[in-house]
Amino acid sequence: MASSDRLAYLTCREAHAMTPEARRTAATFLAEHAARRHGVRIPDGEAGANGSYAMTQRWIHDLDRFHALPVAEQEKVFGRSKPDSIEMDDNTKPASAHIARVVIEESGEELEIYRRSTPYFGIAERGLHFVAFSAERRRFDLMLARMFGASDDGGHDHLTDFTRPVTGSFWFVPSLDDLLAAVRPR
Ligand code: HEM
Repeated sequence: MASSDRLAYLTCREAHAMTPEARRTAATFLAEHAARRHGVRIPDGEAGANGSYAMTQRWIHDLDRFHALPVAEQEKVFGRSKPDSIEMDDNTKPASAHIARVVIEESGEELEIYRRSTPYFGIAERGLHFVAFSAERRRFDLMLARMFGASDDGGHDHLTDFTRPVTGSFWFVPSLDDLLAAVRPR
């Protein structure tokens, strides 16, 4: 295993045993590792270099409606099998499946975002706090357009028949260096 991969698999126990400085270095490294792998970091030479754009949304699910579907139909909403999350092949996956709508290729490359969403639930409401990062804000715009019927093909994401966003924000996330430079006393 390369040392970079080794760090990415750092266990909690190892992290607790580290000095605060070493932990900070590892945390920075891990963030950078994720950023490189997921097309999150704004490239050098561009405005906001080494920072990232983020999108946050709160979604409310209609789970009763979703669970009323037979499992085979639920799977078609996402384009993946329910028990083991295996992707359907292109002949079976509906064009309206979530992953068919959000996977967008440009010049043979998939537009990548790095998703870190968390489900939430209460007595009256269940949903998802969606959080994702990307080197380009337009990737979110393109995905949302394809989800909500605003893209050229006029299609929409079947997922949006069972869940709806009730908040949405775009953020600029500066690099750690820029952030420290901004708060450092002059
Ligand atoms: C309630 C809202 C949402 C739910 C429940 C949801 C759920 C999922 C699930 C279950 C997957 C497949 C498993 C996985 O790769 O993790 C997935 C994939 C994905 N979702 Fe969502 N998602 C939601 C909203 C969004 C939004 C708003 C975007 C973008 C604007 C998005 C972009 C993606 C992308 C890019 C993938 C990876 C597709 C792939 O590479 O196969 N999702 N989502």
